[in-house]
Order: sequence, then C-alpha cells, then structure tokens
Amino acid sequence: IMVEKQGFKHFMLKEIYEQPGVVRACLEAYFPNSAEIPVTLGLPADFYADLEQIQIVACGTSWHAALVGKYLLEQLAGIPTQVQYGSEFRYAPTPLTANTLTIGVTQSGETADTLAALGMEKERRQGKEFKYEARLLGITNRPESTLGQMVDNIINTHGGIEIGVAATKTFIAQLMAFYGLALDLAYRRQAITQDRLTEIITGLRQLPADIEAILETQEKYIEQLVHDFVETKDFIFVGRGINFPIALEGALKLKEISYIHAEGYPAGEMKHGPIALLDSKVPVVAIAMPGNVYEKVISNSQEAKARDSRLIGVTSVNDGEAAEIFNDLIPVADVEEILSPILTVIPLQLLAYHIAARKGLDVDQPRNLAKSVTVE
Ligand code: G6P
Repeated sequence: IMVEKQGFKHFMLKEIYEQPGVVRACLEAYFPNSAEIPVTLGLPADFYADLEQIQIVACGTSWHAALVGKYLLEQLAGIPTQVQYGSEFRYAPTPLTANTLTIGVTQSGETADTLAALGMEKERRQGKEFKYEARLLGITNRPESTLGQMVDNIINTHGGIEIGVAATKTFIAQLMAFYGLALDLAYRRQAITQDRLTEIITGLRQLPADIEAILETQEKYIEQLVHDFVETKDFIFVGRGINFPIALEGALKLKEISYIHAEGYPAGEMKHGPIALLDSKVPVVAIAMPGNVYEKVISNSQEAKARDSRLIGVTSVNDGEAAEIFNDLIPVADVEEILSPILTVIPLQLLAYHIAARKGLDVDQPRNLAKSVTVE
C-alpha cells in the first residue's frame, strides 16, 4: 500500500492529525452503543474468569501506553498490574501464578524483545492447566504480524499504517485499547456501576472533537513557541498519576526526533534529584489536569519556577491563577482526569514535532532509530 503525505510536510504531522479519526475508529470497534454489551473486544467469555493479576510487557512508546493501561486496570477494574520492559522481563521473569493474564503491547507486532518475552511466557505455561495457556493477549496495530500468529487473542488497535518512526497515532490507539480492556474487565467483574461505565464511555466519545480543537487552536501557537527552544539542551516533563506516563512519552518524543535531552518525571519526585538540574536554561513542561493530583502538580511546578525554569503548562485550567503560574499555557478541554491522557499527549507531540522541524531534522527518519527493532 502506498501511503502519501497528503500536503503535510512530514508523515509524523499527518499522523498527529489523523488521531481524531483513529479514536473514532477505536470507539466504533470497542464500544458498540448497546446497553447489554457496552464493550466488545471479541475475547472469549471465560478469558477473564478468576483473574488475579495482569502483567504487561512492551518496549518504547508501547511501554508508556502499558503504564497508562496499568493505571486504568488497577483503578477501574481493581486488578493488580505489573508493567515490564520486554528486554528486562526476559532475564528476570515474574514467577508464574495460575490466574495471571500476560499482555504483550507492540504496535508493529515484530519487536524482538517483546516477542521473546511472550514466547517465554507461552513456553512456561505449556503443560500447565488450561488457564495458564489461555491467558495470553496481544495488543497490536498489525494482527497479521508475528505477534498475531503467536497468541490466540488480539486486540486490534485500528491506528492504520504509521510511517513516522516516532509513534503518535498508534500510541493513541493503544490507549483506547486499554480503556476498552479496563472497562470490559470492570464491567464483567462488577467493579463499576452501569452509570459510571456509561459516564466514562460518553466522555470517551467527546475526545475526537476535543483533539480536533487542540489541533485547530494550539498548533500555530506551539509552532511560534518553539522559536525559543531550538538552542535548548535539556527539557524536563512532569506529570502525576495517569499523566506521569504522558510526561515520559513527551520526553521520549522530544529525544527521538529533536535530539534534545529530556526526562519525564513524576512531579513529586523532582525534589529527590532533578530539581538540582533546574535553572533558566532548563524548561519544565507540566501536565496539570484537574483531578486528585492537580494541586500537587501546581505546587511542584511552583518549586521549578522558583529555580528560574520556564514553565509550560498543559492544562484545562485557563484562569488567572494558571496564567500567573505558567509562563506559557497550552489549554486542552476540561475532561475528567481519567480520560485526559488522550488529550494531554497531543500538545507534547506537537511540541516535539515543531522543535525538530524547526531545527530542520529528519523528523520521520531520526538517526539511529528504526520503526521496529527486530533484533535483541
Ligand atoms: C522502536 C520505535 C518506537 C516504538 C518501539 C516499540 O523503538 O522507534 O517508536 O515505540 O520500537 O515498537 P512496537 O512496534 O513494539 O510498539
């Protein structure tokens, strides 16, 4: 299949713009608008029976999606969840217990470390009871991949073909798959009320329009903003709770395509090290969405500002207080915290993109990186 840039300067920008459509495709696939069956992932009915633990293996951006997934699976469905890098899990696997579900998350379905970790799990389960063998799930954008052949159960992420090496729309699609999985589990295990389930699904349905609004109203602003950062050597991204993995993802996007050193940190941990790095040359991007950690992120941000860091806020609070705290403010729609990663990652993708584009770098094919890493 021939994929074209359709007037966009780079595939990455085109793919960022495809995200509202990707979220719509995932909504259609996972949430069929029916009171009896609110979520459909096509998994066998006994797949979740007696589930006690979930472990997720992944690499790179998929690993960040898995961290958001852990938050959702624990907070919505109440299932203890561990997230591991494929490359680490291989050499120090978690002891196998009977009622554990292992999930491999890989956009390409070809990442060697993730496949090896899953292969090892498959082998470990052989000859054990049925439950052991049945409990492998793949989340992938390519069901026809090696992963797809390896495991019986797949959630297809509906991202469409992604050309840019730095993942954007496939990440959003992976997040959507985790909303589907966590809600399906929560519903079947009766960990969530029907009303709450409906409320979250209704909230999810608003997100495509909210992403469109960010693209329409903030892209030009971000393009201007980055004029100040072409010489910047270090960036810090902070977030807490469900937005901590988004801080990691924002930092990864920037590293991958702009070659600027960046770290993602849980805002509350700044005082245990990274705060020593801060001065007027090190900007801090804070994800501060209203919810149970909002005040905490704000106070962590004020500590950074007191060290002269330029503070960029990604928030839905667009009032006098926010304008005073943040040097630069990138507003997103006011959605509940648990849905916010789908929105907060968008400005971070645009920030990384525009810095790299402004530096004249090869955004779609960054040096030393590959779209999928098929060697250990
Ligand atoms: C490579 C790509 C990343 C991707 C990672 C995992 O490093 O450059 O964008 O996140 O592999 O890829 P996967 O296909 O397993 O999601």
